[in-house]
Amino acid sequence: MGLQWGDEGKGKASAYISRGAGLTVRFNGGANAGHTVSVGDKSFSLHMIPAGAVSSRAAALGPGVYLDLEALFRDLEQLEQSLGRIELVVSPRAHLVLDLHKELDKSLELLRSGERIGTTLRGIGPAAMHKYARLGLRLCDILEEDAASLSAARLWRSLWVGLLSRVEEAWLNRLRELAEGVKGFVGDVGGRIERELSSGGKVVFEGAQGTMLDIDHGTYPYVTSSHTVAASASTGSGIGIKAISRVIGVAKSYTTRVGAGPFPTELHSPIADELRRRGGEYGATTGRPRRIGWLDAVQLRYACRLNSVDEIFLTRVDTLSGLPAVKVCLRYDGVGEGFPETVSSLRRVMPIYREMPGWPPIGDELRERLRREGYGALPREARRFVELVEEELGVPVRYIGIGPGVEDVVEK
Ligand code: GDP
Ligand code: IMO
Ligand code: MG
Repeated sequence: MGLQWGDEGKGKASAYISRGAGLTVRFNGGANAGHTVSVGDKSFSLHMIPAGAVSSRAAALGPGVYLDLEALFRDLEQLEQSLGRIELVVSPRAHLVLDLHKELDKSLELLRSGERIGTTLRGIGPAAMHKYARLGLRLCDILEEDAASLSAARLWRSLWVGLLSRVEEAWLNRLRELAEGVKGFVGDVGGRIERELSSGGKVVFEGAQGTMLDIDHGTYPYVTSSHTVAASASTGSGIGIKAISRVIGVAKSYTTRVGAGPFPTELHSPIADELRRRGGEYGATTGRPRRIGWLDAVQLRYACRLNSVDEIFLTRVDTLSGLPAVKVCLRYDGVGEGFPETVSSLRRVMPIYREMPGWPPIGDELRERLRREGYGALPREARRFVELVEEELGVPVRYIGIGPGVEDVVEK
């Protein structure tokens, strides 16, 4: 699960954890997600299929996913071209994201004018509107040939497409064509998970977005239209909460946010530009520059609680290397219990920082040594940073990211 505002490195973390797993599952969000993972000299940027599939070679998309069929096929082609066959199971209950949703997303953003959320324009908000107003169109609705299901599709068209005077005669045919392509992959995701677990296999649930983008617990209204906390792995895939035995929270060694909204530790200094440049901090879905700030322990403590995090996967300790000093926000001045609820209160908080010495650059040579020798070979100052994160969050850091590759991980 992402513990910040997304792009923490969930894809790479999931690919690492999915080694030896029988299945990797996506259960929330849609093609607004962009998960990048490098395997050897190949890099994959995935939007619908969980990145962990590069390791497990088996992916499931649960009913909690907003299904963008075109993005799904692009991902599948990208993966299969390099890696060969990937097993894929798609829940027939998943709601479809249509072109109309993307157009609505754009129109709503224009209407918001100065108050834009800065969405990815992937149609997520409007698809969620329809889903929760019980006017959504699910994959099973277009797959079933009987009159009742078809009439659901027609009702949908007359209500929404008709209402907005955007009647496109070809839309149903196009959808059918896409559905025909996905037919062979449709299956019971909960059942597939159950089978994997009962045969002693491991299943990895790969979250999309980050905790602070959760519709209920995040920085509303600057959030996405999904739950992004660990509990959604259960509801979004169709298994009970007791099937989940371990929660791994993914956090970057600093914070990034793409899109608008409050960001207490945001930096407006050359350090932000430097981190953006060397870390290639541009959105994987939209290419927008990511906003950058120091690590925020107040925000992360809140995220650990919301997710019942057992252990942390701390990414990009290499990207943060080579700075004379780094800072970590330990508390917000004048803020009592709990995490501030409103945008205006969050904009007013004064972060109190601990400054600590930076560590020598982690380049190819040191990375190689770290892969061989492990945690002990990490520069002393970097180990101190990791230990501060553990002390502040009260959760062990078990995995440390030292590069973009699946194998660029040190275990503590
Ligand atoms: P996600 O959405 O959480 O999967 O994250 P993104 O893929 O959008 O962004 C994370 C970026 O950081 C990707 O380009 C990853 O390849 C990269 N990355 C992940 N972990 C590390 C790390 O430990 N070091 C470095 N240098 N890059 C990393
Ligand atoms: P991954 O899975 C970072 C942000 C958007 C915007 C807000 C709402 O790669 O971490 P939406 O299109 O969902 O309606 O946009 O949420 N957002 C993300 N930011 N990473 C993501 O996914 C995101 N998915 C949505 O930038 O601020
Ligand atoms: Mg991303």
